[in-house]
Amino acid sequence: MSANLQQDWKHWRLRREETGLAWLDLDMADASANVLSSAVMSEFAQVLDALDAAPPQALVIASAKPAGFIAGADIEEFSRLDSALAARALVERGWKLFNRLAAVRYPTLALIRGHCLGGGLELALACRYRIVVDEPGSKLALPEVMLGIVPGWGGMLRLPELIGPAAALDLMLTGKSVDAKKAKRLGLADDCVPARVMESAARIVALGGKPARRLPARERAMRWAMNGPLRSIVADRARAQAARKVSRANYPAPFAIVDIWERYGGNALAVPAGDPSALDTIFASPTARNLVRVFHLQERLKAFGKDSDFAPRHVHVVGAGVMGGDIAAVCALRGMTVTLQDQSVERIAPAIARAAKLFERRHKGDARQVRFTLDRLIPDPQGQGVARADVIIEAIFENPEVKRSLFAELEARAKPDAVLATNTSSLRLEDIATALKDPSRLVGIHFFNPVPMLPLVEVVQGEATAAEVLRRATGFVRRIDKLALPVQSAPGFLVNAVLGPYMLEALRCVEEGIAPATVDAALVAFGMPMGPVELVDTVGLDIAVAAGKALAGAGAEPPARLLKLVGEGKLGRKSGEGYYRWVDGKAVKGDGKDTAKDGLLGGLWRRLRARREPETPPIPAGLAERVLAPLLAATQRCVAQSVVADADLADAGVIFGTGFAPHTGGPLNYCRSKGKPD
Ligand code: NAI
Repeated sequence: MSANLQQDWKHWRLRREETGLAWLDLDMADASANVLSSAVMSEFAQVLDALDAAPPQALVIASAKPAGFIAGADIEEFSRLDSALAARALVERGWKLFNRLAAVRYPTLALIRGHCLGGGLELALACRYRIVVDEPGSKLALPEVMLGIVPGWGGMLRLPELIGPAAALDLMLTGKSVDAKKAKRLGLADDCVPARVMESAARIVALGGKPARRLPARERAMRWAMNGPLRSIVADRARAQAARKVSRANYPAPFAIVDIWERYGGNALAVPAGDPSALDTIFASPTARNLVRVFHLQERLKAFGKDSDFAPRHVHVVGAGVMGGDIAAVCALRGMTVTLQDQSVERIAPAIARAAKLFERRHKGDARQVRFTLDRLIPDPQGQGVARADVIIEAIFENPEVKRSLFAELEARAKPDAVLATNTSSLRLEDIATALKDPSRLVGIHFFNPVPMLPLVEVVQGEATAAEVLRRATGFVRRIDKLALPVQSAPGFLVNAVLGPYMLEALRCVEEGIAPATVDAALVAFGMPMGPVELVDTVGLDIAVAAGKALAGAGAEPPARLLKLVGEGKLGRKSGEGYYRWVDGKAVKGDGKDTAKDGLLGGLWRRLRARREPETPPIPAGLAERVLAPLLAATQRCVAQSVVADADLADAGVIFGTGFAPHTGGPLNYCRSKGKPD
């Protein structure tokens, strides 16, 4: 290609073919992923100037990064915005620039490979066509709502027009992503193609070989009605959907998205100042600031273990119960070979059956992938995998003697550099480590139940644990795509140490005569994904008694009703009754009606299945604060006693380990916002 057919900017490169087709590649300088920073956006305006001066036959916009298309706006820049005016200017620049792109006369096409998020998808939506490469990494989403903001660069205008408002609002209100096939099904992508033909497919479509997608007449009429006369019905339904998950007071953004689509044509800039959906209101709310904080906390957790070169290929899990079975399944899903040991094949079988269901869900029915993953999960009643494993995780009964004798045997048979880990919740690592010839080899890798859904894993350093063992354990946790939180060996580590006193206080309220549903409603209204009494029922009342003893030590008496229920065999969800009656896996509260209530922030909160009564009982003033107080105090204690390294990590652990109301930015951030010192 001759030099005058190529034009370079710092972040963009424009190549013109003799056919008249122009290729515009984004390759953000000094970054592994593309983000739409101010510099990238202002250069994009210059690129459009150059294209105006010499319009191409067609333009294909792609990424030169292997990491993906565009990860979205620059969150660092966004975090530094210090006024509503600055936020408005940022929205205005993107809105105008992408309107300009949408208005060019020549055909434009976004060639999407890998992640295409937020502003990146808004750029793609401003193109006439979109082709998505059919690979597992291709994910398209408008996740702004998770940061407490709205997709202001044209997403609220163009996505509803392209795929219909019902599907568009669903994507924008949940922030969830779609893969290449789903993007095509929804009409978000004109085509989804394998990587090897992506360039020729883009060339053919952009140069006009393919007409714009045309919907069948019936669907066109429906789309017209939903964007027109039925608009308010669609909007009301979306508002109701949002209200089932969160309150407007805690999370203004989803409600603003619906308003802006319904009343302002998707243009956030058109909303008058002072309106609850105005940009200044959204940016001024503490929620946006706190959710950006949560994003940064998550990034910090993601960084633990990222630099590790430890690449375990074989994991051996001992104990195929609730925890061990699911830990094994998650490792197999992440491509590792897993041997799963228990006392007999019969004890392993239920874990394999559960894993098969999980694999089907995760592989969306792709039978070949399900088969491959199942092949990696090997029942191993004799424990033959011990000698080959890079990581060995013990998840047997919570009995110190049995664990000790197991570890003595494991140490004798394991490779010298294999990680030896226990999943214990309540035993001291130091007490188990005595069984080892080399106690520095033992580390805690503490998962939460249900393992496939909960993102956090505490990596526990015992008194003797060697730094290298800790490093490897953290690297392993990252490799299975969980968030590792380093904690010191102390009763309950962080998460259970803060949950215990919180649940106990909730049960004390019940003891005093406040209905369980009222206590739960108070905490759900505060923003917890599930009420604490329902949580006790879910964890199991027997476990709550045992954990309470372990955490509170002698002296603190468990609530009488708790002991009575356990005495009657009413252990909560698993036995069909505890503080609530359980029908079809749901707590029956009051009148028997029950609404599933999903949280806002994807995985964790969506899946924890918080539930609330249709009619919330009147909540006594100060009830939520009372139940939360012991949790806040316990978090402060964990920081003071160095169970976690600092206050931010404590907030991160409590948010990702318990679902603690993300809009508050975490328990200690919440304390600060109330003027209480950490
Ligand atoms: P579980 O009772 O469901 O499973 C334990 C399994 O270990 C059983 O299948 C049993 O047959 C097997 N087992 C016992 N001794 C064995 C031995 N010597 N060799 C091989 N297999 C043996 O127990 P669960 O709930 O899975 O707990 C396991 C561990 O995980 C415990 O240390 C517990 O503290 C910890 N944990 C439990 C959580 C939970 O929510 N259940 C959460 C986090 C940690």
